[in-house]
Amino acid sequence: MNWSGQRVFVTGGAGFLGANLCLALASQGARVIALDGFLFGGGANAKNLEGSGVELIRGDIREIDLRPLCEGASAIFNLAAQTSHMGGQADPLADIAVNAVAQVRLIQAAREAAPAAVVVHASTRQFYGRVVKLPVDETQPVAPPDANGVSKFAGEQYWMLEHRVHGRPVVSLRLTNCYGPRLRIRDARQTFLGIWIRSVLENKPFEVWGGEQLRDMTYVDDVTDAFLRAAATPACHGQIFNIGGAPPASLRELADLVVKLAGPPAHYSVREFPAERARIDIGSYHADDSAFRAASGWSPNVSLEDGIGRTIEWYRSRLADYL
Ligand SMILES: NC(=O)c1ccc[n+]([C@@H]2O[C@H](COP(=O)([O-])OP(=O)(O)OC[C@H]3O[C@@H](n4cnc5c(N)ncnc54)[C@H](O)[C@@H]3O)[C@@H](O)[C@H]2O)c1
Repeated sequence: MNWSGQRVFVTGGAGFLGANLCLALASQGARVIALDGFLFGGGANAKNLEGSGVELIRGDIREIDLRPLCEGASAIFNLAAQTSHMGGQADPLADIAVNAVAQVRLIQAAREAAPAAVVVHASTRQFYGRVVKLPVDETQPVAPPDANGVSKFAGEQYWMLEHRVHGRPVVSLRLTNCYGPRLRIRDARQTFLGIWIRSVLENKPFEVWGGEQLRDMTYVDDVTDAFLRAAATPACHGQIFNIGGAPPASLRELADLVVKLAGPPAHYSVREFPAERARIDIGSYHADDSAFRAASGWSPNVSLEDGIGRTIEWYRSRLADYL
């Protein structure tokens, strides 16, 4: 797809995945409008879009008039969300207000202002819960382990309903753990890898909780590629896809890689899951993403070693901007 000159609306555009996507679209000549409320201790960071030419609107998707932002858009990439699992447990009403109710606001605004726009919705593997069979394909039963899983599932389903009832081209991508430059590293709110990277760059030990859980991490450039292909490929429209990444690795293996790539004095200790996290933990996960690969031609290009190495190097010179 030629993005040059196209108007594109990205919600959550100052966050981790949203900003990387905005930068890619802008570099391909798109006129990008990013909406972000800088909320919930998420990944939003003004540095993410600095000097990019992306128009950043600071506003809350629950309140702002979304119609002018949708106006003329040929694509809407919908990434704004309350993403914290513990945050959703603590305040499920705020969580559902963004992840489900505001989705309906956006659907209605887009119906009026951008009736033909393709929508790619950022969904999550979280609501499969503790999975019964690995790898996980899209037929796996949904059993959200927490309030955030319920609200994210509801939001996705409203978008698929819009496809079925009104014919809107919608693609929902159920993402696994993503990582790379612009990840929130201040704390562990956006994957364990964020705080691990901060710790090694500050020459401090980090903690691994559990250790045997498997994860199929996706490097952010591969996530961006998945979003762009989903929008550009008519065969994907109207579909829900799991998106995986690198071959599954245990948390211990990932920690060993971080230590190796960061170099001395990086080290870690293993401890049991804190009780309140253990109650909502999903155990091991890795995706069967063959449906998306077949439909779009996508495959992840960045290996774990390469991706973690690139991420650590990226933050070395920018640490202060992300703490
Ligand atoms: N990063 C991952 O590993 C991962 C995994 C699965 C799904 N996802 C999904 O991908 C999307 C992007 O996640 P991310 O990792 O980039 O997180 P992020 O926190 O960096 O990005 C989400 C952005 O949404 C913004 N936002 C939240 N509430 C808002 C509101 N009311 N109005 C306007 N903006 C608001 C936040 O400020 C933030 O910048 C989310 O929908 C998330 O559920 C991410």
